Amino acid sequence: MSNPNEVAVQRRWDWHYPIVARAEGIYLWDTEGKRYIDGSGGSSVVTSIGHGVKEVPAAMARAAEAYSFYPAHAFSNPKLLELADLIAEIAPGDMRHNCKVWMTVTGSEATDDAARLARQYWVVKGKPSKHIILGRWQAFHGDNIFAVSMSGLTARRRMFTPMFRDMPKIPPAFCYRCYFEQTYPRCQLLCARVLEDAICQSGPENIAAFIAEPVVGSALACAPAPDGYFQIIREICDKYDVLFIVDEVMTALGRTGKMWGIEHWGVTPDIIATAKGLTGGYFPVAAVIARNDLWETLRANNAHFRAGHTLNASVIGMAAAVETIQYVLKHNLVENARTVGAYFLEQLKGLRQYRTIGDVRGLGMMVGFEFVADKETKATFPPEREVSRLFSELTFERGLVTYPCAGTVRGVAGDTILMAPPLVTTKAQIDEIMPILHESMRAFEALV
Ligand SMILES: Cc1ncc(COP(=O)(O)O)c(C=O)c1O
Repeated sequence: MSNPNEVAVQRRWDWHYPIVARAEGIYLWDTEGKRYIDGSGGSSVVTSIGHGVKEVPAAMARAAEAYSFYPAHAFSNPKLLELADLIAEIAPGDMRHNCKVWMTVTGSEATDDAARLARQYWVVKGKPSKHIILGRWQAFHGDNIFAVSMSGLTARRRMFTPMFRDMPKIPPAFCYRCYFEQTYPRCQLLCARVLEDAICQSGPENIAAFIAEPVVGSALACAPAPDGYFQIIREICDKYDVLFIVDEVMTALGRTGKMWGIEHWGVTPDIIATAKGLTGGYFPVAAVIARNDLWETLRANNAHFRAGHTLNASVIGMAAAVETIQYVLKHNLVENARTVGAYFLEQLKGLRQYRTIGDVRGLGMMVGFEFVADKETKATFPPEREVSRLFSELTFERGLVTYPCAGTVRGVAGDTILMAPPLVTTKAQIDEIMPILHESMRAFEALV
């Protein structure tokens, strides 16, 4: 339990939070000297380049020594320009050297700003009725109120629904619990085609954009969309003049074994929201990347982008992001995430031997598994038992940080574990993680 005299409010009251003393690579040590493997890459999918990389804090210190913050309404900073150029060099598909980049601070702000950009673009283009951002159930796009309205994770949104105008949603692309009770590929990707119905029902003249994660993180603990899914989404968006926003807050910069998650489907979105791995956790930085012609529409009309937070594009954050991306490129971490991630997934499949493991899934170094009370029926454990949390506590005791999630069934039940160790993880380190998972599974099944 938390200490009632502690003034700082932590995420949960029913947990005693050890203090992190130091970290190196994929390891963390608490003040008692106990070592943990950062198996979820922070909370979660953040620590891409690992802990203790000297180049990043050194670049941040150099930036901080120059000035604290700058009057951003009147000046720019060199690291912002350098970072935007660097992102344009590695942007996916048709966006490469054909985009502009807007910086912000958190992933929630990035998805919110992506939605603002879609809206403003249509208003400036003379289609002011386009205002709806279509989303998907069992998706998570952030915790500010508009991001929650686009997100479909019921347990996290229910309390706040009276406070926002809800955005319509289609079912997720989730083969393990297919909403249409079909099997891939016989399903002919109904989960993608249904987007057309949703657009027509609300009226294409009202839809500004569709938003989706290429691999669903915490809401479905790492479910990649099936092959062909985003190609259909792209076609439908084009047919109805709907922008496609890809939420790459978790999946960007190598996490899934390609620089961008969406590259697995070979389509180019109109707008990308990204954050987390952009600085590997060394500083909060997020970005909205959009095709040049969207921004040009605003620029040609001298329509300044109606978004912005005071601390956007801090020179310290920009320096951290430049250094992090360069580190990813220099150390071939995209390739490492692909090969070590594939090895990790193979090893994780061994967990299927346990009676309570229903599915193992993922892409690159973004993987997960789902607990079931009954393998045949895929019945979930009662949500109030919080079995994913129980499992996570068991791995934590054994020195492995895992990230417990829930909500694969209607956003309220269905327990999963998300694993996303830093992209620098080696196969030998996966071999350290696996015995802890097996031991924790045995302890878990003795309890449930
Ligand atoms: C896919 C996705 N989008 C957006 C967000 C929001 O990012 P942040 O927590 O930095 O606001 C998250 C956070 O977990 C996320 O996983």
